[in-house]
Amino acid sequence: MIQVENLTKRYAGGEAVRGISFSVEKGEVVGFLGPNGAGKSTTMRMLTGYLPATDGKIEIAGAKLPGESLLVRQRIGYMPENVPLYPEMRVEEFLEYRGRLKRVPGREIGHRVGLVLDQCGLTDVRGKIIGTLSKGYRQRVGLADALIHNPVLLILDEPTAGLDPHQIRSFRELIKELGKDRTILLSTHILSEVEMVCRRAIIINRGKIEASDTLANLEKRVQAGALQIEVKADPAKAKEKLLQLPDVAVVHELAQAGDWVFFEVTASPGKDIRGEVDTLIKKENWPLREFRREKARLEDVFVELTQE
Ligand SMILES: Nc1ncnc2c1ncn2[C@@H]1O[C@H](COP(=O)(O)OP(=O)(O)O)[C@@H](O)[C@H]1O
Ligand SMILES: [Mg+2]
Repeated sequence: MIQVENLTKRYAGGEAVRGISFSVEKGEVVGFLGPNGAGKSTTMRMLTGYLPATDGKIEIAGAKLPGESLLVRQRIGYMPENVPLYPEMRVEEFLEYRGRLKRVPGREIGHRVGLVLDQCGLTDVRGKIIGTLSKGYRQRVGLADALIHNPVLLILDEPTAGLDPHQIRSFRELIKELGKDRTILLSTHILSEVEMVCRRAIIINRGKIEASDTLANLEKRVQAGALQIEVKADPAKAKEKLLQLPDVAVVHELAQAGDWVFFEVTASPGKDIRGEVDTLIKKENWPLREFRREKARLEDVFVELTQE
């Protein structure tokens, strides 16, 4: 659905996007994740044909940029970072106007407007002046605008920026729903957003792609959190035994309570030590009352990949 090769954007101040390549398959909901200034908006503007690339190839649903930019715009619903709305227009009137601009046939306009009003939860405010709406509703109008011509691909640039937690929650539900029968590329610097709506993420930092993988695989990349165990055993002897295990890197004694000793056991990079620690505890017959491992989170991956 999206194919990008060696895409580059040079502004007067320097390179904002530095030779990135990636693809998005039909039906995927992909998070485009990166800190502020990473190059997310610049990339999305190039994908939608609003900003010419300095170099590289872009193909959207079979249409190539810059040559076929009209076709590309027909196939994409784009919600830019700052949704440009006409504050003096009524919601319904605005969507009709946008539909006509995007060449929705006259006899279909009424039907399309009704459909996107319903999809975006705007039916109750269809007659309201856009300028009087809350930020959450205005974002919905922006999304309805992106959907009016029934595009196969949605490109959403930080769609939940500036919304309050309730609005964010309902907006996410909306995006999830839309993702059931559409391809979506969604940029954000909020990690939990990606975790909630996307299966795959592309992480961009300073104009370069640092990672592109399913969330499950990204989480595997960082060292899993340490294993915490509490056993009834002689502390020094237990520590020694734990350290003898092949994949155990570090053992910290965190606390003692009576005969119980609490350890934090860290694995060598990429290793899962739960099995061997469990086997040891059983072999030594240590009574056990705590055994848990912190799960690695996308946030850890993000921090690790985008730090200075
Ligand atoms: N029109 C522009 N002219 C010059 N530099 C720009 C322009 N737009 C963005 N930049 C710069 O390009 C980099 C990437 O910006 P942007 O794509 O907006 O990042 P993001 O959306 O990830 O926050 C930043 O360093 C930004 O200052
Ligand atoms: Mg941006």
